[in-house]
Formats: sequence, structure tokens, C-alpha cells
Amino acid sequence: MNIAVNPDDHAVHPTIYLKDYQPPVFGVSTIDLDIRIHDTETLVVSTLEMQRLHAGELVLLGRDLELLNVQLNGSDLAPNSYRLDKETLTILNAPDQCTIKTEVRIHPENNTQLEGLYKSGGMYCTQNEPEGFRKITFFPDRPDVLAVYTTRLEADNQYPTLLANGNLIEAGQVGADRHYTIWQDPTKKPSYLFACVAGDLAVLKDSFTTMEGKPVALEIYTEEKDIEKCHVAMQALKDSMLWDEEHYGRAYDLDNYMIVAVSQFNMGAMENKGLNIFNTSCVLSSPETSTDASNFYVKSTIAHEYFHNWTGNRITCRDWFQLCLKEGFTVFRDQSFSDTLQSPAVQRIDDVSSLKSAQFAEDAGPLSHPPRPDHFVEINNFYTATVYDKGAEIVRMMATLLGEENFRLGTDEYFRRHDGEAVTVEDLIGSLSDGSGTDLWNFLPWYSQPGTPVVTGQGVYDAETRRYTLTLSQSIPKKPNYPAPQPLPIPVKIALFNQQTGQPLLLDAQGETETVLMLNQSKQVFVFEHIASQPIVSLLRDFSAPVLLNFDYQDQELAFLMQYETNGFNQWQAAQQLLERILLQGHDASAYLEALLVTLPKVASVDPLLASRLLDIPTETFIASRIDSNYDPVAVRSIREALMNAIAAELKDFWSASYAALPIVPYADTSEAMGQRALRNAVLAFASRAGIANALTLASQQYDVAVCMTERLGALRQLVNYDAVDHDAKLTDFYQRFENEALAIDLWFGLQASKPNATIDEITRLSQHPQFDLNTPNRVRSITGNFATNPVAVWTTEGAQFYANLAKTLDAKNPILGSRILQVLSRWYTLKEPLRTQVRAVIDGLQGQVTSSSVVETLANLQKAG
Ligand code: BES
Ligand code: ZN
Repeated sequence: MNIAVNPDDHAVHPTIYLKDYQPPVFGVSTIDLDIRIHDTETLVVSTLEMQRLHAGELVLLGRDLELLNVQLNGSDLAPNSYRLDKETLTILNAPDQCTIKTEVRIHPENNTQLEGLYKSGGMYCTQNEPEGFRKITFFPDRPDVLAVYTTRLEADNQYPTLLANGNLIEAGQVGADRHYTIWQDPTKKPSYLFACVAGDLAVLKDSFTTMEGKPVALEIYTEEKDIEKCHVAMQALKDSMLWDEEHYGRAYDLDNYMIVAVSQFNMGAMENKGLNIFNTSCVLSSPETSTDASNFYVKSTIAHEYFHNWTGNRITCRDWFQLCLKEGFTVFRDQSFSDTLQSPAVQRIDDVSSLKSAQFAEDAGPLSHPPRPDHFVEINNFYTATVYDKGAEIVRMMATLLGEENFRLGTDEYFRRHDGEAVTVEDLIGSLSDGSGTDLWNFLPWYSQPGTPVVTGQGVYDAETRRYTLTLSQSIPKKPNYPAPQPLPIPVKIALFNQQTGQPLLLDAQGETETVLMLNQSKQVFVFEHIASQPIVSLLRDFSAPVLLNFDYQDQELAFLMQYETNGFNQWQAAQQLLERILLQGHDASAYLEALLVTLPKVASVDPLLASRLLDIPTETFIASRIDSNYDPVAVRSIREALMNAIAAELKDFWSASYAALPIVPYADTSEAMGQRALRNAVLAFASRAGIANALTLASQQYDVAVCMTERLGALRQLVNYDAVDHDAKLTDFYQRFENEALAIDLWFGLQASKPNATIDEITRLSQHPQFDLNTPNRVRSITGNFATNPVAVWTTEGAQFYANLAKTLDAKNPILGSRILQVLSRWYTLKEPLRTQVRAVIDGLQGQVTSSSVVETLANLQKAG
């Protein structure tokens, strides 16, 4: 540990460095926990069997714990035999083998930070990743200390459900009013995977038989009123279990798999061993209360947390710098699973959209960091788009290079070598290389270099030699405090098209029409022989690398690809490239509009879901992430609005015709039905914009006859955005309909917060609504997340102050959430004056007003920018 150099930055919060990693001094073979929950306090007794591994002191970590007693090998320790500091308990002169028993008092009933043991609604639950376990008991709370856990839970009878990891081995009464359960988890695990729950919960049960013939009991717990909303999650769980067997040869290892839904949760969900804890937003789903997007997210989150059982739990991280080892790999796995839920082209479009709007934006700002950072102050600040999504892209690139079969040989080797261990990114690359027989070590720098590489290309056709020469070069932005960037291996998947026929060209004698070029130097030339006429190249198919592409296309060539690309992803990407030129470089929209006019109806008739995505227009925040100085939110808004108006006008006939062709039909949870709903809503939005006479009447009708939330919310959005006469009545109707459905009320807040012309007064009024609740992160994010899509209002003194005030309030109450909210302001320095100075002043106003490591680190990073 080192103290940060600049004493003004985070003097009280030390910076942790990857290079300082030291293995643990003591291991823990077993831990026995006895947790007794009472209304006004919880008592935790823990007994650790410890063994010396290296020279040094025996140090246990603890935070906000009241130490009541400490024993060594069965005897109370005298005060001079241990040292208690703010965050550590040091046992002096500990023998090489010892039993340490501590008793502490904690207060989950007052824990608003939602880390450690806390109360959500009427139930007790835990969140221990990354460093929450130290808020429950003294322990070497680091992911490379793996132990076998036995947990006794005791609570009042009003909490009939008492759960912990592993198998239930005993249960009984304690007097008349209290009861207990004892759980044993046979697999060794790090402390961040410990979980327990006490509540009054209903359960949905099912089972799954593994490929090894082992039956597994599946249980999803939630409040009684929501139990029927757990069927989607249950089916997704069974699908995920089968998928991991079929695609990675991985079967589940315990006899039971439990999921508990909680309403107050900082993240989406958590993969605790055999006892996942989920934000209600990621597990509950019903057609009436959930949108298709959230229904889909439930399935992929269930898959994600399930897949962690192998990539994260059985094989875990040596230290938190390796976070992307489990998260990046697991996101790649859940993305691949999601290919079975909707067309792979649309899945890729959705993943790339979020990569570009979140990760590229993060990498372009002051919070830019490598997928494996080499230092941090607060690890909670590093659960980022870069760690997750760029981490997933790196695994994807290696998988692309290896091909399915060899990638599987590589992952088999990873599981064979490292099962039961806490490992590093190097261990993954080593296993993939050795297992597949392909050296992947040149991918390692992807993990340590920040910034989005830019690939620039040029194609030259020579009719005489019938040769097409493609020159590609790469450049990686130099970031302050990082060494000069080195060229990275960049797989570039391409196809060539015949301009006259629109057909893809054959690239080899085997009839392949696609190939992967490996760009691994600053500049490389690729030559294609026997090309009969000037081709059009389609680059970076399926987004084969997380890079910005800068190819010297004519707009007409991109328009050609919009029409003729056979790869749905690149069809969309061609449209996006054209749109970026229009929005960022002032290109004329005509080539795009013409191509859209011919392409959209065709795609709509065969693949409505893809058609709905072809109507994606880069968001204002994405456009902003590409503007590094003098950013004028009002000007960007007006350029984007003008484009949307032009699209709306140009395709007027299409909107009317296709809305009529997409009647509301009974709900189905299929990709086809989702596509029809998505396209209908997109069409309704453009029809409303185009001012088509009856568009808002159609919206009003759609609201009334909607059979599901996607339809109802899609209609309500147009009524609200275009100030329809009945928009207030419909908002009230929505509220009354769903008053007792927290997730639907989140949508109600979110819809109003995302209104493009929302004023800060309206946002403030929303945040004063009786149902707004600072203790429920979903509710807070329903406003902060949606309002953030409105840069015109956010980038004002008042808008920025709204975020700064919340960050300040949450600094003590829930610093993880406070820090994330403050990050909305990270690109302040790109603003044009006087906004830049005004927003900077708001940010500086937080100086000295916040104290948590999370918020203080983010504030310091923001202030360093510009
Ligand atoms: N391990 C994380 C959850 C987590 C991270 C909880 C940090 C607390 C602190 C989990 O596996 C995860 O990544 N969840 C994602 C959803 C997933 C679908 C990407 C989340 O919570 O957003
Ligand atoms: Zn995860």
C-alpha cells in the first residue's frame, strides 16, 4: 500500500497497486459462522482455522465492526496480544496453526450502503463483492483466500426463510420465538461469494438433471406477490445450465441452486455460490409489468450469474485487478448464450451499441483505464464498461482467431488447469494458448493499454493486374501516465462485394466469401488477386475488434453496404457509419435517406427486429463522446433533430403503411413477436415526429388496448414526448394501474425523466415525488440514468448541480451509487464556454464536501481532466 502522491487528491484513501501484490500470510481452511439476527443488532461469531503460508503477521480485515471478544486457540486474548485499528485486527505472535474466534456486533438495520449484511424492504440479505465480507466479520477478505464455510443463521420466527450457501444440514427452534438453520458449502470459496438471507419469502421450485445425471433443486425466492413473475427466470436458468454443458462441457456442481430477489441492490445481480442474490429488476418479469428489453435482460443476467459458477467461482480471481478475468469472460459467455434468444446479428448490434455508447465514451474521458487497471483507490469504482465490455471483446477476439473448436480446447485446458484456484489474466491466456496450440500472448497488451484504437484504411483497385490492395493502419491514443502505446493484434473480418451485382466475391478456391485479416503492426498491406472489377469492401464484420474505424469510403459505398451486405450486423454498421458522418462531419443525409428508403421496407418484411435496429440513431451522449472540445449540446441536439425530422418526412408513407401492417396480437415471448413490437414502437415514434395526422390518436389507442408493457410504454412515450392532449391523463392512468409494482413505477419515473425537453424543474419535482426513494437504487437510477440522456438540460449549472447534490447526499448514504451518479459529469471539460467553466465550478463545489473513497476518487479524476 502506498499513500497517493498528491495529498489533496485522496490523502486519507491509499492507492493500491497491482505490482505490490503479495500472497496471503495465512490461509483459512474452514470458517464457522454463527449469525444471530435481532431487530436492533446482529451478533456474528466466527471461528477460523488458519495456517501460515508465508512469513508475516496474522492480519484480519474488518470495517464498522464492534469487537466484543477475540480468542486464540480457545482462550480469550489479552489486550496486549492483539492490535485493533480502524480496518484491521492483528493477532500478535500467532502460531503457524491456530484457531481464531471473534465475536462482533453489527447493525444491518442501519446499513444504507447495501454492502455486507443489510436490510432490503423487510428482509435481510448480503452483498460481499468485492469487499463487503469485512463488514460482517474479521477475515482475510481477499479473493485468493479460499475456505470451506459452515453457517448457522438464527432469527425471529417472523423470518421463516433462512438461507446460506451450500446444503441445509440442520434446522430447528430456539425457544418459542426464534429458529435457526445450519448450512454447509462443500466447495472452497473466497469470502466475496458468501451470502445469507433471512426473510418471509415465497419460493418457486423446479429441478434440472445435469449431464452427469445429478439432480439439482432449483429455487427462486421472492415476495409472495411476485412469485408468478419468476417463471421467465426459472426457464432461463435451466436453459443456461444446458447451454454451459453443451458449449463448454461444464456441469453444475452442488445439489441446489437458489436465487433470491431483493428490491434494494446496487448492481444487477450477484453470483454468490449456490445462492445468487438478484436485484428484482433482473429476475422478475411479466408481460404486463416488464418491457421486452427488461424481460431479455432478466434472461441474460440469469445466464451471466449462472456462468460465473465456472468462470468466477470455481476459478476465481487472484486479486481485484484481475476482475475482467471473471467479468469479461463471463460477459462473453452470456452474450454467446443470448445468440440463442434473438438473431445473432441483432444480439451483436445491441452489444456493440452499448460498447460504443458506454465503453468508448468511458475510454475517451478522464475515467479511461485499461481492462486490467494497475492501480485503484476504490475497487468499487472499477466495475466499469471497460472491465466488463472491453474485457468481453478481448476474449471474443481470441475466440474469433482460434475458431470454435480450438477455442473449446483452450477453455477446456483453462478449467482443467485452474479449477479450485485464484488466478490471473496470464493464466487464461496461457491456458488458451497451450490448449489450442496457438500462441495468444500478443493479446496481453490489450489488457494493460487504455484507449480505443483507431483503424484507418484505404483500398486501391488496379484493373490491369486485377488486384485489390487494402492498406490498414492502427493508432492508439496516448494517455497521460501510461507508456507509449504498442500496436495491438486486431482481427479484421472482411468481405468484398461486386458493385454491379451486389453479390459477395469468392475469396478463395473453397468458396469462402469472408476472411479474417490480422492487423498486428502499425501499418500493413493486404492484397487480393483475381478481382474482376472495383469491389466494395465491408470491414470489421461482426465488429471483430473493439476499435474505431476510419475507412475512406464514399458515402455512396456505405449506402451500397446498407442495401447489399448479407451480414446483418454490418448492414447496421454501414448505416451507423453514414449517420456518424452526417452528425459529426456535416455530410449531406441524402445517400443515407435513399438507402434507408429502399432497405427498410425490405428488411421490415423479413426481420422486423433488425429493421427496428436499422432505425437506431446515435444518441446525443454517443455523439458527445466523439467531440473533444467546444462541445455545444444545443447544436448537437439541433443537428440530430433535423436528421430525425428528415427521416420522418422521407419515409412518411412507410410509417403509415407499416403501422397498419403491425396490428396488436396476443403476447408471445419470441424473437419474432419482440421484433414486431420493437418495429411498431419505432414506427410510431417516427410517425408522431412526422406529424402524421392520426399518429397520436393511434398512440392513445395503442396505450388503451396494449397487451403488454412494451406496447403500453411505447405508446405513452409518444404521448408524453409530443404533448398529446391526453398525456397527463394517461400518465395518471399508468401510475394508478401499477401503483404497487415498483419496477413499473421505475419505468414511469424513467419515461418522464427521459423526455427530451424535460426541464430541471420537472426533474426536481419528480425527485420530490412521495415515491422517490434515495434508499432504493433502482428508483434513483430511474431518474439519474434517464435524465443523463438529455445533455442539453444536464449541461447547465442547474443540471450539473442536480447530479452534484445527489452525489453529495449519497456520499455517506450509499457511496457506490453516489460515485456512479457523479460520473455522469465526467466529460465536463469538452464543453464550450461558458458551460465548461460553469460546470467545473459545480464540480469544484464538491471539494471537501465528500469523504467516501468512492466519491472522492471519482471527484479527483474529474477534476484532473481538462
Ligand atoms: N459480480 C457482479 C456483480 C457485482 C459486482 C456486485 C460488483 C457487486 C459489486 C455480477 O456478476 C455482474 O456482473 N452483474 C452485472 C450484470 C451482468 C448481466 C453483466 C450487474 O450487476 O450489472
Ligand atoms: Zn459478473
